[in-house]
Amino acid sequence: MKVHTRFLLSALDERQFPAASVPEIAFLGRSNVGKSSLINALAAVKIAKTSNTPGRTQAINFFEVRWPGHPKPDLLFVDLPGYGYARVPREITNRWQGFVDPYLAHRPTLALCLCLVDANVPPQKNDAQLIEFLQHVDRPLLVVATKADKVGSRLHSALEKMRQGLGVDKILPFSSKTGMGKDELWKLIRMAVERSDEESGGLAGAPRATG
Ligand code: GTP
Ligand code: MG
Repeated sequence: MKVHTRFLLSALDERQFPAASVPEIAFLGRSNVGKSSLINALAAVKIAKTSNTPGRTQAINFFEVRWPGHPKPDLLFVDLPGYGYARVPREITNRWQGFVDPYLAHRPTLALCLCLVDANVPPQKNDAQLIEFLQHVDRPLLVVATKADKVGSRLHSALEKMRQGLGVDKILPFSSKTGMGKDELWKLIRMAVERSDEESGGLAGAPRATG
């Protein structure tokens, strides 16, 4: 399905957030895990800036997403600053406490948190902490294992180790290089948007999955 995507705004503080309206999908994970690349893969265009330098995304970036034929945005993608990279200055890690945590805890339209972990790296403490925090504040979440193209035949055992280490039922393998996991992820995003629309009594439903 070809969606339309558009950069909306970049926020460095809660007051700059757009008014809460349509369901939001948040992209979370350690610096360099592939959050911006995942957004670009789903959008099928390069709307989010990616980089080899960890800590590239330092603001919360909001992107509008429209289903084909719809005049208004149906959902927002929310690209959050990465965490857990030692060389990122403290000032940036402090932003997490300042406005990322409050966003995750209180944003009324947050429909799904995608927690990205690198499929090539063993389970990390800060990933487990984020997942615990999201469970504590009762947010729907899905763990996505990125860069799955680099793992090769060890993928199954790597995912199983990750699942146990992070204490989650399900992990979706993904690659923004090969497109692995993309259709499944879109399906889960559409379901989260529909669920959120139903809960809020919204009229703007997502189209049914075709095929
Ligand atoms: P920050 O904004 O710094 O937190 O990073 P990010 O999580 O947005 O990561 P980004 O998407 O910028 O990707 C970081 C690096 O990983 C880039 O060099 C990407 O090309 C690479 N990368 C991302 N996804 C994949 C993938 O699925 N496979 C492979 N092989 N490389 C990937
Ligand atoms: Mg980024």
